[in-house]
Amino acid sequence: MKTKYLQFTETDLRKAGDLIRNGELVAFPTETVYGLGANALDIEAVKRTYAAKGRPVDNPLIVHIHDKSQIYDIASEVSPDAQKVIERVMPAPITVVLPKRDVISGVITAGLPTVAIRMPLSEEARRFLRAASVPVTAPSANLSGRPSPTTWQRVGEDMDGRIAAILCGQPCEVGIESTVLDLSREQPVVLRPGAVSAQFLGELLGKEVNVLTDPTSKVNSPGVRYKHYAPSVPMVLELDDDFDKLRDFYDEKVKEGYNPVLWVRNPLRYGDRNVAAMGVDDKAVAANLFETLRKLEKKYDFIIASFCWRKNSPYDGPAAQGVLDRLLRACGRNVI
Ligand code: TXA
Ligand code: MG
Repeated sequence: MKTKYLQFTETDLRKAGDLIRNGELVAFPTETVYGLGANALDIEAVKRTYAAKGRPVDNPLIVHIHDKSQIYDIASEVSPDAQKVIERVMPAPITVVLPKRDVISGVITAGLPTVAIRMPLSEEARRFLRAASVPVTAPSANLSGRPSPTTWQRVGEDMDGRIAAILCGQPCEVGIESTVLDLSREQPVVLRPGAVSAQFLGELLGKEVNVLTDPTSKVNSPGVRYKHYAPSVPMVLELDDDFDKLRDFYDEKVKEGYNPVLWVRNPLRYGDRNVAAMGVDDKAVAANLFETLRKLEKKYDFIIASFCWRKNSPYDGPAAQGVLDRLLRACGRNVI
């Protein structure tokens, strides 16, 4: 299949919308990561998403909308908490899980009685969704298990030849996937941390909002069980910003014959060793996380990352928990 590279012109947006309504797959930018869009009302199209990504079919998809009124066509019940989040927070890098209506196939939800719904903040995303005019399922537009793409070029690396079109928009500002908030049960719970923090949501709802962090516990978010974001080279994570430990680990890897890289907040401290900047605060780390992972794996053969999240430290912001979650998954929880 020859993949078309479309621009944000009226003509190309119309083409993108036509492709979606014809059951084809179109990748598009959002503020979090690029998504791989399909018509949520066309089951064959949705099934194609799983094939293009090589994604396990028991991992459900998020349905994307451009207008809040669409929520009531998709969800069968909107609790007062859900209403508050929809009114006060959306559009934002957040996804809400609500009881589903019958129009949403079990193919999308992996058989669950709930549906995940997201209205992106990105103007480009909403222009595309408006052009599609139907609700659009969209996982991140990477091959399953690979780091999520935050530029259209990275989408091309994984998806060229596998999908009908890529809408070439801006690089994603947030850089990590949306916060997934389950509002289908009595107690709201964050199933996947993102840029909208659990603390913020707790303050908004006036109740405690926990983050589900144990990937082995029995939950109704199948996505958290899978290996994610793995770079093609070995990676470890250090959590204390301990200069001696990082330097010694690096030097040990060099002795073993590796060409490693230190991915740290203060690269200048490490002399002439290979270094990459992690970012000055949690927001900057999130924005560059997946892009840097994909760059480093091409240049080096061992990634030594450091992310030290302490109260009132520069990394102590709303995106910290999401960043830590992605880094832990990327290194397969290999913490030194
Ligand atoms: O930022 C994002 O959310 C991006 C952009 C493209 O919008 N999309 C994204 O999709 O990250 P994906 O497929 O990579 O991740 C979807 C997550 C998975 O962890 C999945 O298990 C969870 O949402 N999910 C989907 N439907 C669910 C449901 N009904 N109940 C619980 N979790 C659900
Ligand atoms: Mg994904």
